Formats: sequence, C-alpha cells, structure tokens
Amino acid sequence: IPSRNMDNETKFMITCMLFTAICSSASSAEWKATVVKSIDALVTSCVVVPCSFSHTGGNLPTSRLRGIWHEKDDKKSNIYHEDYTLIENNFKDRTQLVGRLGQNNCTLEITGVKDHDNGPFCFRVELVRTENNDPTKDMFSFVDNCVELKMLPEPAEPTVIKPMTATQGEPYTVTCSVIHTCPTHVPKLTWNLDSTKVIVHHKDIKQGNWETQSSLTVIPEEKDDNREITCTAEFNGGLKSSETFTLHVKHIENYNHIIIPAVVGIGTALLFGIPCILMAKKYK
Ligand SMILES: *[C@@H]1O[C@H](CO)[C@@H](O)[C@H](O)[C@H]1NC(C)=O
Repeated sequence: IPSRNMDNETKFMITCMLFTAICSSASSAEWKATVVKSIDALVTSCVVVPCSFSHTGGNLPTSRLRGIWHEKDDKKSNIYHEDYTLIENNFKDRTQLVGRLGQNNCTLEITGVKDHDNGPFCFRVELVRTENNDPTKDMFSFVDNCVELKMLPEPAEPTVIKPMTATQGEPYTVTCSVIHTCPTHVPKLTWNLDSTKVIVHHKDIKQGNWETQSSLTVIPEEKDDNREITCTAEFNGGLKSSETFTLHVKHIENYNHIIIPAVVGIGTALLFGIPCILMAKKYK
C-alpha cells in the first residue's frame, strides 16, 4: 500500500509539473505587453494610450489576434472590443484601436474623455485558434500592464519663450507650446496678431505625451511697444487656455532730424562763407 501511495503521489506531481509547464509556456512566458503606466487625460478631449506587445513564438497573423481593453477590476467590462456588442455602453463609439495588432501595436484612443474615465484599463490579447468561429482559443491577459488616466479638468496654460526685448524693424520670434496626450486631434495654437510667419511643430516627447509648438515672427514697429500678445491653445473638445505677455519694443534712436539740418547748415555756411571771406580779403 505505501508503494502504491507513492506512485499516486508521483503521478500527481508529474501531472502538476506538466500542467504548470504547459500553462506557462502557452501564456506569460511567450507574451509581453508594454503599456504606459499613467497618462494625463484632458476631460472632453481625447487620449491616446501607447501600447505594444510581443510574442516569442513566431509571427502571428492579425486575423488570429484579438485585442481587448477592459477595466482592471472587472475583466468582463470591456472598454474596447472588436465585437461592438461586448463594449460597455458608456464606452461605445468612444474607443478605437489606433495601433495595428499585426504590427504588435495595441495603442488605444479614447475620445470625449469623461471625468470618471480614470481606469485602470488593461490590455489583453486573445489568440484565436481557428477562424471558423471555433470557441476554442488561448486567452492571454496582461493584468499587470494597465494604464491609469489622470484626469485634467482644465488644460495646462501654454508656455511662451521669447527674447527679452524686441527691436524696432528687426524680426522678433516668440514660441508658444502646449503639452497634450491627444495626438490624433492636436490642439490649435493661435495668436492675436498678424504675422509674416507662423511655423507649427508636433513632437513626440514620450510616455504618451506630445508637444505642439507655434513660432510667430513679427517685425515690430514703434506703435507695437507695450502691446499685449496672446497665444491661445484650443484643445480637441473645445477647452481653451492662453498666455499673454507685453511686448517691449526697443526704439532705435534716429538722429537724422539733427544730422541732416546740421550738415546742410554747415555746407551752406561753407559754400557761401568761404567765397565771402576770400572776396572780403581781396577787396580789403
Ligand atoms: C503604434 O500606433 C500608433 C498610432 O498609429 C503610432 O503613433 C505609434 O508610433 C505606433 N507605435 C509603434 C511602436 O510603432
């Protein structure tokens, strides 16, 4: 009897080990997802959450992959799913997978951000074994790869970078920039004055943050001294923020009104004075 018990125990252990090995090789060992941990989200605007994943078991066709985003607390609460009917009502028509699963990109866009959309939201990928609606599938979930949205009820103010003083008649360039997390609908930057040149740039500053920058070049005139210049940022969804500063124009001293009459005066004096003196000397 003891030997039989041993046999059963060994069998059980072997079964356990095999089970563990199969499970781990089929799931976490082969799959990895990278999701940004936390990202700012402006209420009413959009937010794009960068996400990528990898699979060590060779390339998988997109048709066999299914990307899902769900609430961390409730795996059945999908905020994004291929099957529209499986999306929570509150998120219907507001979420989109902007990354391509076939390129290992699971980037998610949420539009019309609401102040209670804080998450955490987690990405999960399912590998569909067959394409014939066979319910048999391997399911992988990266519950430790979740994102938390930090809600911003108001947008940040733009940052203005400018030279200390402007000089009358010389080009003056001032730069206004805002940081945002909605690269699919970038903010619009506008100025309260006409310019000869406005250049706009968009830059990925990592972790899901983007910078939109507008450089304005003006040639200030004397009348522009003490003029208020405002840069306004209008975000997707309509929220606005702005930054204002006062332009100080350095006046270039112009002595022409003194120099020209002086030169003319001296010239005239010499022109008439010298012959006069010479004549006077001659007739003495
Ligand atoms: C994933 O897709 C997004 C949206 O199309 C794109 O901006 C991003 O660069 C992609 N990421 C990678 C790592 O290719």
